[in-house]
Amino acid sequence: MPSLLRTLAAAALTVSSVVICVTTLDQVCTPGYAHAALPAPGFYPGITIDTTSISTSIVTNRTVKSDWFPASTISYCNVTFAYSHNGIPNDRVHVTYWVPSPDTFQNRYVSTGGGGLAINSASSSIPTGVIAGAVSGLTDGGFGSFTTQWDAVFLLADGTINWQSVHMFGYQAHRELAVLGKEFTRKLFRLTSTQKLYSYYQGCSEGGREGWSQLQRFADQFDGAAIGAPAFRYGQQQVNHLTSNVVEQTLGYFPPPCELEKIVNLTVAACDGLDGRLDGIIARSDLWGVGPPPGGPLLRQRQFSGGGPTPAQNGTVTAKAIAVAQTILNGLHDSQGRLVYLSYALGASFADGKTSYNATSKTWGLSISGLGGEWVRRFLQLHPENTLPTLQNVTYDTLKEWMILGQNRYTDTLQTTYPDLSPLKAAGAKVIHVHGEADDSIPVGSSVHYYNSVRSAMYPQLSYNASVVALDEFYRLYLVPGGAHCGPGRSAPGGGPWPQTTLQTVMEWVEKGVAPARLSATGGGIDELCKWPLRPLWLAGKMECVYDQASIDTWKHDFDAYNTPLY
Ligand SMILES: *[C@@H]1O[C@H](CO)[C@@H](O)[C@H](O)[C@H]1NC(C)=O
Ligand SMILES: *[C@@H]1O[C@H](CO)[C@@H](O)[C@H](O)[C@H]1NC(C)=O
Ligand SMILES: *[C@@H]1O[C@H](CO)[C@@H](O)[C@H](O)[C@H]1NC(C)=O
Ligand SMILES: *[C@@H]1O[C@H](CO)[C@@H](O)[C@H](O)[C@H]1NC(C)=O
Ligand SMILES: *[C@@H]1O[C@H](CO)[C@@H](O)[C@H](O)[C@H]1NC(C)=O
Ligand SMILES: *[C@@H]1O[C@H](CO)[C@@H](O)[C@H](O)[C@H]1NC(C)=O
Ligand SMILES: *[C@@H]1O[C@H](CO)[C@@H](O)[C@H](O)[C@H]1NC(C)=O
Repeated sequence: MPSLLRTLAAAALTVSSVVICVTTLDQVCTPGYAHAALPAPGFYPGITIDTTSISTSIVTNRTVKSDWFPASTISYCNVTFAYSHNGIPNDRVHVTYWVPSPDTFQNRYVSTGGGGLAINSASSSIPTGVIAGAVSGLTDGGFGSFTTQWDAVFLLADGTINWQSVHMFGYQAHRELAVLGKEFTRKLFRLTSTQKLYSYYQGCSEGGREGWSQLQRFADQFDGAAIGAPAFRYGQQQVNHLTSNVVEQTLGYFPPPCELEKIVNLTVAACDGLDGRLDGIIARSDLWGVGPPPGGPLLRQRQFSGGGPTPAQNGTVTAKAIAVAQTILNGLHDSQGRLVYLSYALGASFADGKTSYNATSKTWGLSISGLGGEWVRRFLQLHPENTLPTLQNVTYDTLKEWMILGQNRYTDTLQTTYPDLSPLKAAGAKVIHVHGEADDSIPVGSSVHYYNSVRSAMYPQLSYNASVVALDEFYRLYLVPGGAHCGPGRSAPGGGPWPQTTLQTVMEWVEKGVAPARLSATGGGIDELCKWPLRPLWLAGKMECVYDQASIDTWKHDFDAYNTPLY
């Protein structure tokens, strides 16, 4: 064909594709339609999309619910395709985008993150975008399949790190998911170059870390982000799961699970009213001060079950158990008494300190934390095993050395605490960061410490109050009274509050300029959360958000065990 004719034919194709008016999900949900919307070759340098890999499937009237989005009935098209990185043998990354019906599409894109060692949370997280009229994405990180976790591919051999997998898990897979997803969305819904596509992120725990990995690096990638309990400061965070075990070993006492649970219950009972309301929720873990958690002999017979046959436990709380609990809550200190890392807040369960029962010796003993044990064995010592065989000879100083090793080895990939968010602020992005105050997996103090790191890195010249006002323009932190890890707490009868519509609040802030003073929540009779550093206090039955300097001061940590700042 002469070239002029070819040009005309191509132009005709383009024109005809513009005038076709797509209105239904069925019309969008075909491999052919999705194929035409794939980012063009070369759009993302270094990546080649396998155009034959596209699959589409339509799902209608599916009911979804979660702590992270309102219960909804949604219809969507699941579009999945694969790509590879040029030059890397046997490389294949799968991404899934849930596409909403064209009549509900609101010019939005949302990336969703994972948890633990998973880079996605499958169908428990991805609906959040569709509910908000967005194309919503997740990635498999190139680990083999959507259900393959990172640890399965982390070692190429005993002692040899698969660095590509580290970079993908650290931040690169999410970068690619978002850049490809935004372009795919634009083409799928035929947005013109002047039409705005709003882009967002939502994730909690590892998903929260993944979110910060993007916000810290790619300032203009998302317009807004809803971040929960991020697993950042990764080098410290993962080893810290072993702190409770080492405390028990060092003090030579392995409390039966019932005993630790009793201590938590007594703590909740003792601290509940400090916030001005008796509701089974410690809304002010900071008001207890530095005294020991309450204890004492309580003679209540009860059967504790869970994790194999265990004997009846009588509910007695021993002085030794209180010492274990107190030492855990004090945070990890090295042999010279310097602070290495922080611990959970009062009211959190002692999940890391869970012990196991030996039916032969009829004694309770060490049960090595799964997350902590695998981190050290596989990711620090580089052996393809799921946990450490023993904690023999492991001291507080060993934990500190492991923290520093992980922090240094994975500084650019996993640590994820880079504190200067000036580019993010300049790009106009908005971030809402939430953390359950009784989180038993990632200490709530970890989020407060990062907030403070950002504050002092960006505004060293401003007063405390002025720096908070400056941060308020783009980054707000909300602690959830009694909140557990990425969901409501269980200490209150009927459960505690959780901010279920955080993504919607971020969207209001980004698209309409409505900055939240308090954050909406549901559950536990608490329907609003105070913006840090203000703290909840019930006065005459009404929740106020108060400024309390003594309270703020209890959240300041000087990690003097290190010779460099720990952000
Ligand atoms: C989905 O729900 C709508 C509204 O209730 C209904 O009209 C439609 O028939 C349902 N579609 C399917 C496939 O069940
Ligand atoms: C989407 O479809 C793909 C391919 O059929 C499937 O493997 C995947 O589980 C689906 N993902 C979700 C989150 O529904
Ligand atoms: C602690 O409190 C919870 C919730 O009220 C209760 O289910 C549990 O049995 C209590 N545990 C102990 C050891 O008293
Ligand atoms: C409760 O159990 C502990 C050991 O688990 C025992 O030392 C203590 O005497 C018991 N107390 C009562 C009152 O049975
Ligand atoms: C349980 O106790 C017995 C007797 O002291 C001991 O031989 C065995 O190694 C213990 N088992 C475990 C898993 O520690
Ligand atoms: C602990 O230290 C002792 C004494 O140095 C040594 O014999 C033993 O092998 C060590 N155990 C482990 C697991 O490293
Ligand atoms: C800081 O702001 C709070 C109100 O948010 C106010 O109560 C407090 O007095 C201020 N502190 C200083 C030093 O201005």
